[in-house]
Amino acid sequence: MINISLIGTGRLSFNLMNEILDNKSLSLNQIYGRSKFRPKNISDQIEYIKEIKNLKKSDFYFIAVSDIEIETISNKINSYDGIVIHLSGSTNINVLSIHKNHGVFYPLQTFSYDSNLSFKQIPILIEANSKINLSKIKKLADIFSKKVYKMNSSKRLVCHISATIANNFSNHMIVSAEKILEENKINKSIIKPLIFETFNKLNKMSAKDAQTGPALRNDYITIEKHLKQLVKSDFLDLYKEVTKNIKSNEL
Ligand SMILES: NC(=O)c1ccc[n+]([C@@H]2O[C@H](COP(=O)([O-])OP(=O)(O)OC[C@H]3O[C@@H](n4cnc5c(N)ncnc54)[C@H](OP(=O)(O)O)[C@@H]3O)[C@@H](O)[C@H]2O)c1
Repeated sequence: MINISLIGTGRLSFNLMNEILDNKSLSLNQIYGRSKFRPKNISDQIEYIKEIKNLKKSDFYFIAVSDIEIETISNKINSYDGIVIHLSGSTNINVLSIHKNHGVFYPLQTFSYDSNLSFKQIPILIEANSKINLSKIKKLADIFSKKVYKMNSSKRLVCHISATIANNFSNHMIVSAEKILEENKINKSIIKPLIFETFNKLNKMSAKDAQTGPALRNDYITIEKHLKQLVKSDFLDLYKEVTKNIKSNEL
């Protein structure tokens, strides 16, 4: 049985907690959070500690806090020679170098409090400060997922940039699309079937092949109509920039 302590009580920690509790090969030792009171998402079965010095010996310490706090929190941990792990795509492994045993376990997925995702299909990018720690982290990651990849910090950063564009930017585009409808007193749900089909198509073809629209077709008449309509809108620059980008990518 591999035992894990979770540090942080946010979105990823919540999803890891559920996954660990569901898996008979894993045991959740403690969860540390800075809140005085046990956060409502944390199962009553788990010991909740609010003093980091009360962390007990574990095989792994998962630091699931905001990226900018990882190093500060890492420096406060007594790891009893367990492996200290961070879960960030954009943070170098070196921020954990104070610990003899350390590494990275980055699940390339978006997590929320209401997501009920199985980790089995989630790519997990791993890195470690030694061969032996890498094999221990690999063994652990294999319990979570069928898709485990060894990757160094600079390549992981590239994956994080790609994930940010694919997920955060796409979602922002949808927020913008809905806002344009609402500003014109049109029910935003009208666009939902199109949004679902946009992502569904990726099961059948590449994103490049799936691209449609006036920018791809070089349809200047439609683009001009759109620009005229958007002239006083906050989305004018975004529309121009993305249109330019689609055109240059298709050359
Ligand atoms: N969510 C995702 O989709 C996702 C995906 C892959 C990787 N990750 C990585 O997972 C890590 C956690 O991200 P998240 O999305 O779970 O973040 P989150 O939901 O924003 O939660 C951040 C957590 O960090 C805690 N925290 C921040 N500063 C702290 C400090 N100084 N001391 C103690 N706790 C502190 C917060 O405590 P309070 O609740 O008290 O504010 C909160 O529990 C990050 O490294 C992120 O890059 C996230």
